[in-house]
Amino acid sequence: MREMGKKLGLLAWVWFMLCGFCVGRFVVEKNSLKVSSPSALNGVYECAIGNFGVPQYGGTMVGTVVYPKANHKACNDFDISFKSKPGGLPTFLLADRGDCYFTLKAWNAQKAGAAAILVADDKVEPLITMDTPEEENAKAEYLQNITIPSALISKSLGDSIRKALSIGEMVNINLDWTEALPHPDERVEYEFWTNSNDECGPKCESQIDFVKNFKGAAQILEKKGYSQFTPHYITWYCPEAFIFSKQCKSQCINHGRYCAPDPEQDFNRGYDGKDVVVQNLRQACFFKVANESGKPWLWWDYVTDFAIRCPMKEKKYNEECSNQVIKSLDVDLKKIENCVGDPSADVDNPVLKAEQDAQIGKGTRGDVTILPTLVINNRQYRGKLDKVAVLKAICAGFEETTEPAICLSEDIETNECLHNNGGCWQDKAANVTACKDTFRGRVCECPVVQGVKFVGDGYTHCEATGALRCEINNGGCWKKTHDGATYSACADNSKDCKCPQGFKGDGINTCDDVDECKEKIACQCPECKCKNTWGSYECSCSGGLLYMQEHDTCISKDGKTEVSWSFIWIIILGLAAAGVGGYAIYKYRIRRYMDSEIRAIMAQYMPLDNQGEIPNHVSHGNV
Ligand SMILES: *[C@@H]1O[C@H](CO)[C@@H](O)[C@H](O)[C@H]1NC(C)=O
Ligand SMILES: *[C@@H]1O[C@H](CO)[C@@H](O)[C@H](O)[C@H]1NC(C)=O
Ligand SMILES: *[C@@H]1O[C@H](CO)[C@@H](O)[C@H](O)[C@H]1NC(C)=O
Repeated sequence: MREMGKKLGLLAWVWFMLCGFCVGRFVVEKNSLKVSSPSALNGVYECAIGNFGVPQYGGTMVGTVVYPKANHKACNDFDISFKSKPGGLPTFLLADRGDCYFTLKAWNAQKAGAAAILVADDKVEPLITMDTPEEENAKAEYLQNITIPSALISKSLGDSIRKALSIGEMVNINLDWTEALPHPDERVEYEFWTNSNDECGPKCESQIDFVKNFKGAAQILEKKGYSQFTPHYITWYCPEAFIFSKQCKSQCINHGRYCAPDPEQDFNRGYDGKDVVVQNLRQACFFKVANESGKPWLWWDYVTDFAIRCPMKEKKYNEECSNQVIKSLDVDLKKIENCVGDPSADVDNPVLKAEQDAQIGKGTRGDVTILPTLVINNRQYRGKLDKVAVLKAICAGFEETTEPAICLSEDIETNECLHNNGGCWQDKAANVTACKDTFRGRVCECPVVQGVKFVGDGYTHCEATGALRCEINNGGCWKKTHDGATYSACADNSKDCKCPQGFKGDGINTCDDVDECKEKIACQCPECKCKNTWGSYECSCSGGLLYMQEHDTCISKDGKTEVSWSFIWIIILGLAAAGVGGYAIYKYRIRRYMDSEIRAIMAQYMPLDNQGEIPNHVSHGNV
């Protein structure tokens, strides 16, 4: 026990040495909180985002404040529910600081249905960052389950809110994370301070899980140039007086220059701190070499593969296993070995030296003392280390409209579409929705499904357009199959629904069969016998006659030949008649001509009494 106490004392002392220079370098991430009601409190106030839960990076959240009647510090379970009724504003629980961990307050508030927790400071002081307690490993399970955002507010704001609530005023608050991260350009720079140690309980496990889950998104962002990622490793140095102590010898490399705590906190068993430092160095060197060859994203593969293939508990946390992973990723092992150098030499290692320098805070980023730490656009990330939350934070680092597609994909679901389809248009039958979850909240936008573009306002209507529109839910038009026959009211070349021939209706919900027989549309000749069918009709003829659909009439069975013969006969007869007629006219005209000739000759000899008359006979008696 005493031995152990001494060891812990040393560790604490080493940490103290390390932190000697970090006092005053811790930057509190401030955020704005807007009170919109009551009017006496209207205004924008500062709050500090908690280092747990899931802040809504890039978004805002509106809620109404509730101060519990009892359990003011939220250290115990609530026996009432703060869950807002459907359509009601979400509840922001106001709790007093003190008596228990911030995380426990948040957890109790979340279990009781609150949407966020505001912790009112109990003294007048600058805001601090509420953090996850290191000592709470035993109950760490609930820490991973905190999803509601949390914010620390000043004592004076807390007092004002309590006072307003006590006189029955409604306090409405808007938590705004849109400016929580600076977004200077179209590329987000972020660093992840991590550790290769895999034997530190839930914290290590959640770190590895995060790397595994986030790998896909990280690699997409990196490959397309949307992000520049750098991994970092914390080490510290052994105080001079202890360089030759057993502790520093087992925890440090390069003569006490770079140290890490013993993974099992026991110097006599398992791996030593220096094994962790060497492995961290290999990971840092892997990144350096991969980055130099233009493939920085390979680091994510190396780290996840190493965690899977070379775990401490299988006693594979060593150089040999690491080399196998490096070779499988086709990265130059020689270069990595050069970079690692000789851990037992009394010299600086350039990579680890740079890492130690980088630990010291600069600009808007404080010193890095907590593992893991994520720094996005040089600002420390607050919140749960989980894929969606981190991706949201990175996406919030892009200028609006320059964010890559992955930020607008379902990878960053806000789940707002799950409730009432986010108020957007949807076609349940076709499983098509206009609701899209993005990290900035949901948007209602007519989708493109299987190459079919929908157009509309996204809220009340969307219509399929284009050549393939009938492919999806038949373009929203009526369609029916009956006895093997299918009819559709959709046509690819039209944007409307129109009932096919033989049907009538709106084309969308109904197309009713037209009864061609009753409505006297077809099959109406005297010999015709009409029978309506679905989508058409059947017509038959009595007396051995045949129905001709195109003429809608009945003809005799061998009518085909008869028709042609009679046709020929009609032509022949017609020609004959024309010939006869022509001949008759010819004859008649000849006669008339001769008559008039004779009359003209006769007229030379005698006056004719009746010139207008056609003389059928010459009156010789007058001559
Ligand atoms: C935390 O969440 C996990 C998975 O969602 C669940 O199995 C576990 O019981 C939860 N823990 C607590 C303390 O609620
Ligand atoms: C990685 O490579 C890029 C481009 O070559 C360079 O700008 C960056 O500084 C490198 N990062 C590190 C940590 O070496
Ligand atoms: C609807 O589509 C989504 C994604 O396209 C799919 O996950 C879901 O299973 C579909 N639901 C039904 C009822 O087809």
